[in-house]
Amino acid sequence: MRRIKVTIVGAGNVGATVANILALKGMFDVAMVDIDRDLAKGKSLDIQQQCALVGSDSRVEGSNDYSITEGSSIAVITAGIARKPGMKREDLLKTNAEIVKQVIENIRNYSPEATIIVVTNPVDAMSYLAYKVSGLPKNKVMGMGGVLDTARFMYFIKTKLNVSYNSIRAMVIGGHGDEMVPLISSTYIGNKPIRSLLSEEEINEIVIKTQQGGAEIVSLLKTGSAYYAPGMSVVRMIESIVFDKKEILPCSVMCEGEYGINDIFFGLPIKLGKNGVEEIVEVELDSKEKEMLSKSVESVKSTIKLLKELITL
Ligand code: NAI
Ligand code: 2OP
Repeated sequence: MRRIKVTIVGAGNVGATVANILALKGMFDVAMVDIDRDLAKGKSLDIQQQCALVGSDSRVEGSNDYSITEGSSIAVITAGIARKPGMKREDLLKTNAEIVKQVIENIRNYSPEATIIVVTNPVDAMSYLAYKVSGLPKNKVMGMGGVLDTARFMYFIKTKLNVSYNSIRAMVIGGHGDEMVPLISSTYIGNKPIRSLLSEEEINEIVIKTQQGGAEIVSLLKTGSAYYAPGMSVVRMIESIVFDKKEILPCSVMCEGEYGINDIFFGLPIKLGKNGVEEIVEVELDSKEKEMLSKSVESVKSTIKLLKELITL
């Protein structure tokens, strides 16, 4: 069987989770790189041996040497530091920018054609950095944030309304930060708009829980941030690209006028297929959503401005 090769940089919680899910599916080979060679090697051995139990012949390698990544179709960047209680994603900016810059250069040496999915936070700024440093066309660089935020939004809707995930149509767009924008006006439960089932107060509660969903997990874990849902969110994006599914998913992408946004990476609904970002889908927003979106744009703009002061692009 011909498998698709995926590079994962950062063999920590998110990176190893992505590697594990991909290996279990049996359709991917995984090359995992970490600055800590033994960590990458140890986790890849563990995953590889787990594959014996499910009959997956996926090849999983781990190293601190990028030569193992050669010929990857997709590269996922999870290298960097994660939030501790009390930290905002933006607090990670300087350290992670230096790491991401160096990681991109290494990936490009061995897999110049790879589509890049950035996870490292603050993800909109790190995706912008990856785009600028890589020199890749804008359709081949994207950040993961909105898929995860949407999963959390769906979780809070499900727990409130006691309904299957399969009957919820919802999406969160905007920057992957506290100002993210759950799209209430286009959230449907079965065929019913959410506003016909819940009061504005109940909906606001869900919006706030969604915006604070990552922080809630950080405060419970104490030593790091979420990784199971983030890992699966990345896999969902990878599958839409490599199997040319053309799913419409919220991803952080380079904006050149869409929704009136320019020169930042920002979470918008994207058609994801074999060419990566195939289309930025414009959806109707109500006046409150437009107002929330412009606040989120301002927040991402200020992080990217700070990034430009720290790193020469
Ligand atoms: P982690 O601390 O478990 O793993 C990070 C790994 O990166 C560590 O193993 C570390 O050794 C490695 N690393 C550090 N510098 C490196 C370098 N120069 N080259 C290669 N590897 C290097 O952290 P976790 O939980 O996996 O999170 C990773 C990043 O992803 C964090 O920045 C976190 O905030 C972000 N994140 C973003 C999400 C999103 O929705 N965009 C969701 C979850 C996490
Ligand atoms: C999250 O939302 C830390 O960005 C990460 O869980």
